[in-house]
Amino acid sequence: MKGLCCVVLAAGLGTRMKSRLAKVLHPLAGRPMLSHTLENVLSLKPEKTAVVIGHQAEKVRSLLPPGVISAMQKEQKGTAHAAEVGLGALREAEGILLLLSGDTPLLDTETLKGLVSYHKRKKADMTILTAFLEEPFGYGRIVRDDGGIKKIVEQKDASASERGIKEINSGTYCFNIKSLKKALKDVRSANAQGEFYLTDVVEILRRKGGRVAGIPVEESATALGVNSRVELAAAEKIIRAKINRRLMASGVTIIDPDSTYISAVASIAPDTIIHPGNSITGKTDIGPGCVLMPGNIISESVLGTGVIVKGYSVIEDSKISDEAHVGPFAHLRPGSIVGTGARVGNFVELKKASLGEGTKASHLTYIGDATIGKNVNIGAGTITCNYDGFSKFRTVIGDDVFVGSDSQFIAPVNIGKGALIAAGSTITKDVPKDALALSRAPQMNRENWAKENRERKKK
Ligand code: UD1
Ligand code: CA
Repeated sequence: MKGLCCVVLAAGLGTRMKSRLAKVLHPLAGRPMLSHTLENVLSLKPEKTAVVIGHQAEKVRSLLPPGVISAMQKEQKGTAHAAEVGLGALREAEGILLLLSGDTPLLDTETLKGLVSYHKRKKADMTILTAFLEEPFGYGRIVRDDGGIKKIVEQKDASASERGIKEINSGTYCFNIKSLKKALKDVRSANAQGEFYLTDVVEILRRKGGRVAGIPVEESATALGVNSRVELAAAEKIIRAKINRRLMASGVTIIDPDSTYISAVASIAPDTIIHPGNSITGKTDIGPGCVLMPGNIISESVLGTGVIVKGYSVIEDSKISDEAHVGPFAHLRPGSIVGTGARVGNFVELKKASLGEGTKASHLTYIGDATIGKNVNIGAGTITCNYDGFSKFRTVIGDDVFVGSDSQFIAPVNIGKGALIAAGSTITKDVPKDALALSRAPQMNRENWAKENRERKKK
């Protein structure tokens, strides 16, 4: 947007969070609160954007996309001081300033656009985005008179009757930059908190004959600020519902949105069905026609087309190809790859392991640091012994191998294509292709021994 600059205030610690982590770094739907705010701001394509940083400045700075300026506020003297610092970083900027807080992550692009165009239409010096809240406690209240907005009074400075006002200041504003610069010079800190309040600019502008406008948001929840863990949870709930609604609108079935947790950066294709209790975190990418049965945790993973994840599986940083089935109770640890049509069954754990197309590991198995070919059958209870207490070693199994139940592979070991591993074998040496490998003590039967033993014991 031409002639528009933005300042985002994010220097505070957020004392009410009772946290060692700066408030704007707290995650919401899987990414820092500030990233939500910045995404909305940047979608307006401002000419310049500055973020005022202070507490944990380096961590906050590392979140800023290229082109966003950081402005250091060494001491947090209040929002008016922060605004001054932000303006300083924008240098000779003129025109309109959109100013908002890093702790109002529920605002959306449409609301911000609406604010800017209303501000232009009203030719105002300052336009405040307001909201009507049933529980306005903690927010600055909008005091109106015949001339429009008379002042904003903070909770701690408000009289009993002012506390009854339900129209609140969202902390998001548009300014004429020149008018703001002038007004900021007159802000003083004689208030309950001894801070330089940006909200005092309202009275200052009015005194000078300036125009102050206000526009309420359409949906009051978009204006909510996050100052405490309770408000963080409320924001999380709203964002989560929004993500779920967007996905359902695009063709994903979510059986119980209230118990489905999907990160803001995950993508899910149409005709995938998500049962209750799934948690899909990070940059997970799920293809079309998948079924996620109840209770899975899927993070930073890629699922192809028609994948079925049976319940209560944990999938981390892994890739599952088309038509594969995983679970119930499977654990795919980072670096696992499941081939097309492959099966990973109950109580199977994979780690840095790939299963080829059509391969099956259906029950009670650990496969770590392994490359398994196509159409391999891994019998129940198979274990790759990949660790000697010091280093990790690989197991490589060729295509079409049949691994009998309860086999162990003492890595490093290579099994040739088409080999057969007899059940109960402990494999310590490579097996050539198409060979039979059998390594277990030969069986010995003693006729009648058990019966005689029982009789001996009875005596
Ligand atoms: C502020 C408004 C209040 C409004 C509310 C909306 C003031 C005085 N009050 O109150 O009217 O209803 O937001 O959510 O502006 N910050 C800095 N440097 C500072 C102080 C604050 O960068 O020196 C940042 C904070 O990190 C935060 C934002 O400014 O992101 C707002 O500060 P906060 O202390 O949360 O203000 P509120 O008490 O919520
Ligand atoms: Ca706040």
